[in-house]
Amino acid sequence: MCGIVGYVGSNSSTDVLLGGLRRLEYRGYDSAGIAVVDPSGDLTSAKKAGKLQMLVDELDTNPIADGGTGIGHTRWATHGGPTDENAHPHLADGGKLALIHNGIIENFAPLKDELLAEGVVFHSETDSEVAAHLVAREFRDTHDLTEAMRRTVARLDGAFTLLVVHADQPGVVVGARRNSPLVVGLGDGENFMGSDVAAFVAYTQRALSIGQDEIATIRPDGVDVIHFDGTPADRNEFEVNWDASAADKGGWSSFMAKEISEEPEAVRNTVLGRVHEGAVTLTDLEPIAERLQEVDRVIVIACGTAAYAGMLGKYAIEQWARVPVEVELAHEFRYRDPVLNDRTLVVSISQSGETMDTLMAVKYAREQGAQVLSICNTQGATIPRESDAVIYTHAGPEVAVASTKAFLAQGVALYLLGLHLATLRGTLTAEQIAAQVAELEGLPEKLQQTIEDAAGIAELAKWMADTRSVLFLGRHVGYPIALEGALKLKELAYIHAEGFAAGELKHGPIALIEPGQIVFVIVPSPRDARSLHPKVVSNIQEIRARGARVIAIAEEGDAAVLPFADEVLRIPLATPLFEPLLAVAPLHMFGMELAAAKGLDVDQPRNLAKSVTVE
Ligand code: F6R
Repeated sequence: MCGIVGYVGSNSSTDVLLGGLRRLEYRGYDSAGIAVVDPSGDLTSAKKAGKLQMLVDELDTNPIADGGTGIGHTRWATHGGPTDENAHPHLADGGKLALIHNGIIENFAPLKDELLAEGVVFHSETDSEVAAHLVAREFRDTHDLTEAMRRTVARLDGAFTLLVVHADQPGVVVGARRNSPLVVGLGDGENFMGSDVAAFVAYTQRALSIGQDEIATIRPDGVDVIHFDGTPADRNEFEVNWDASAADKGGWSSFMAKEISEEPEAVRNTVLGRVHEGAVTLTDLEPIAERLQEVDRVIVIACGTAAYAGMLGKYAIEQWARVPVEVELAHEFRYRDPVLNDRTLVVSISQSGETMDTLMAVKYAREQGAQVLSICNTQGATIPRESDAVIYTHAGPEVAVASTKAFLAQGVALYLLGLHLATLRGTLTAEQIAAQVAELEGLPEKLQQTIEDAAGIAELAKWMADTRSVLFLGRHVGYPIALEGALKLKELAYIHAEGFAAGELKHGPIALIEPGQIVFVIVPSPRDARSLHPKVVSNIQEIRARGARVIAIAEEGDAAVLPFADEVLRIPLATPLFEPLLAVAPLHMFGMELAAAKGLDVDQPRNLAKSVTVE
């Protein structure tokens, strides 16, 4: 939540900052602002409530002086509504200092009282402005922005990334982080800061991840990183494996449309290098290889869509590796006093790697002696740093707020983990593993076909633009897909939507069915040995008899659904565990198309932010 960007160099800082904010806007879009220090030591700033475009329009009308040093912010409001005054940057020291903040300063109230007693005048309702005045006070004492930041963070509780510039120190941006993300981009004669690498990937692919409780100072010719106690910190440099175009729309109508089209690629890249001649080689797990032998229980923790991917993984891991798997929402997990020990493998899943609920659950699990493996899509993020091992999904940057391609990549990463554990535990033969690996390798092509075949869904969505409620039914691995389909519709199209396990229908939800109720049904394969297909077809008949309009997602050639479904969306043949990874794509498309048909912004749905860095 909140995107931050910092720049020092000889380019136009306004251009760099606005470009960075454009790529970070998915983190929050309640307001945006920038502050720039020019070489002669003047600080100017501009900020505006609303989406970034409002700030861009403001700067077109009232340009500010350009310079080589600056900071920029795009906000997801916490303290104080989304107004111009509450937008960042916040100024202090007579307008010579500007500060931006991502996170929540929990003890801001007593600090504000202290500053008010000293006569400081506040211009916003934010917790962040307190930090601006504290740094200003320390700067007056030290004339050193890094030291002023160091003294300030010692007074703060909560989660924060702070970036600050001062007119008396042109060519310097100082950033500090605790429980909130910060990465540095290393350029040639210029350096960058960002909430994530998307902020600067257009300029450099060399980056430094900044650790918990560290302060980074960037100048055009170098970067210093220290701990909050002032001692030098280790430098964790890495190469960014996204290129700039990956974070652009590239001619698509929305990031979401582009990202759904990239689902096959996300799967392919996540599998790439991890399977070889029918076997799975997860070198990512080397740091926990020894303890992995002893694992007797897996607990998956995640939020939202990532948790639904976790539910899919449960079916695969239990079936293949015969180890019990629980899936739990990260924000529930640590408050129920879970029973963990050193034989528990906790698997966290997070696209952003910054979700506060998941991060806190990861820390808690490690404190309790569990080993934590994280599945993450973002290099340099906090959750991987806090984990014992990481499987990076290679879905590429996901900019649209609602997750799509990352879900597929997370599912595939869990399937790879399941096969790895099955290999370790000897629960599948080499031939059985090779058969699943072949399914994984064949998935991108089938997904591509699914997406192409579902092109007509746009018409279906237009026809349903006035629908007020949609239900989704699935069984076994189809169940998490029903939940995912419903979540997409809620968050994108603001429609009441619910996903149910099809078997649960008769235990209550069938009372919701009235004439015209639209119900999506994910139909299991008729070839499934568990014989779930006839049961779900019976469910379809039951709701059809009560007037529901049924849209079935069924495999090619399944004729049994035809007499009962109003529409059938087809997916290619796959084994039961792999079907959901195909069935989800038309549901992602449906959510997007319905939102578009209602004239909504599919990339930036209301009230949401991509990276939820508050609890
Ligand atoms: C829904 C969605 C969210 C995220 C959730 C976790 O479309 O995007 O439910 O899946 O906020 O985010 P990450 O994966 O970044 O931890």
